[in-house]
Amino acid sequence: MKKRGKRWKLTAEILLTAAVCLAGIWQNTKETAESVNQVEKKEDDQEDKKIAITFDDGPDAVFTPVLLDGLKQRNVKASFFVIGQEAEKYPELIQRMKEEGHLIGNHTYHHVELTRVDAQTEQKEIEMTNEVLEQITGERPVFLRPPYGSWREEILQDMEMLPVKWNIDPLDWCTKSTGEIVRKVVTQAEENGIILLHDCYGPSVEAGLQIIDTLTEAGYRFVTVDELIMD
Ligand code: NI
Repeated sequence: MKKRGKRWKLTAEILLTAAVCLAGIWQNTKETAESVNQVEKKEDDQEDKKIAITFDDGPDAVFTPVLLDGLKQRNVKASFFVIGQEAEKYPELIQRMKEEGHLIGNHTYHHVELTRVDAQTEQKEIEMTNEVLEQITGERPVFLRPPYGSWREEILQDMEMLPVKWNIDPLDWCTKSTGEIVRKVVTQAEENGIILLHDCYGPSVEAGLQIIDTLTEAGYRFVTVDELIMD
């Protein structure tokens, strides 16, 4: 009996050791898998939360330089959709945008609603602005933000221009309250979003910089629109 008892005890001990060992391996595997998931999740967050901030209707002699200073301090690149006749007045601001790495797009020469003018005028509005911008920067714009979001598809195709719409619009031009603009954009912010603001208003420029600070803190990375559209 004694001998048999000892043998059982030994078997039980072996089984227990094996069980502890297996449990250990299982726990280890689980922890490794969890930490791999965490790393992947972190990398996903960093790579995927892109957002673009765009400014229309400039350049403005007073507010555009303030905005450019703020963007430079934060090392953020924005996308500017400029009006041809304003660009012609302030070529030094267009030059500065280009030197500081911002994307410069076309917003027509006179800020016209393209589907309310004839096709020839539509083409002229786009072409004149492209020429002004090319003369200043040496580069022909590829992107067009059509005022009021309307255009003739065939004309843009002929001219090899890509339309850029937006999906986060705080209507900054009618609220003109920095706090309200910031709140609206921050609550609507989403991955691959395109924020629409106007750099011809002081509160919009101030809001733009606050939006950048808040969303950067929340893990967003600001990119120019080509990075979102070409992806
Ligand atoms: Ni506009």
